[in-house]
Amino acid sequence: MKSFAFISLLASILAGGAIATTPLPFTCVDKEVLSTTYVGLNKDVKAEVLSCANTLATRDLVTKRQTDVCGATCNTNCFTPSGGGPNPNDCQVIADALLYDGENVGPLFNITVGTPIYMQYASCESFFVNQVNYNLTYCRSDWSSVIDYVALNCQAQQNAHGGNCVASDQSWFIQVQTS
Ligand SMILES: *[C@@H]1O[C@H](CO)[C@@H](O)[C@H](O)[C@H]1NC(C)=O
Ligand SMILES: *[C@@H]1O[C@H](CO)[C@@H](O)[C@H](O)[C@H]1NC(C)=O
Repeated sequence: MKSFAFISLLASILAGGAIATTPLPFTCVDKEVLSTTYVGLNKDVKAEVLSCANTLATRDLVTKRQTDVCGATCNTNCFTPSGGGPNPNDCQVIADALLYDGENVGPLFNITVGTPIYMQYASCESFFVNQVNYNLTYCRSDWSSVIDYVALNCQAQQNAHGGNCVASDQSWFIQVQTS
């Protein structure tokens, strides 16, 4: 699953010729924390289930059943300008915690409608946002790969400070930025 995500990301970069840029990072409006846990080998990565006023799903009028999007392609966008990005070493700790939990808790997790999942370690934070009105299932190893990829490729050298990876069908995105 990990290699699949990596190949998908690589393919999207090759197809696009370059990483696109977008000026609009997601912020959780009227944030409510529904649950908090600390995950990974050292239980030092914060994992929260959030409720945000601005994640009401309007993209799909037809409610589908739970959909597994593990392995789905996403396209990386970096947030401009450079400066103030997360330390990639801190993002690596989140990525490692996801791999650890993927092997020790379970490969998959569910994202309920309207409740983004948030992870944070030191300077780095990441959201998984479900943009549709049905529940999604995703895999921890793919989230880990995306965090690594975005953290390393949306840096000051790319005139960036973090970025996101948006599903080809826009049903979800992962964001990586400074906490
Ligand atoms: C995700 O939700 C489905 C449907 O409710 C359930 O069968 C499954 O066990 C859940 N998976 C996890 C990893 O929680
Ligand atoms: C999504 O999952 C939650 C928690 O398991 C469940 O209560 C809800 O009914 C599900 N929503 C849909 C649209 O299937």
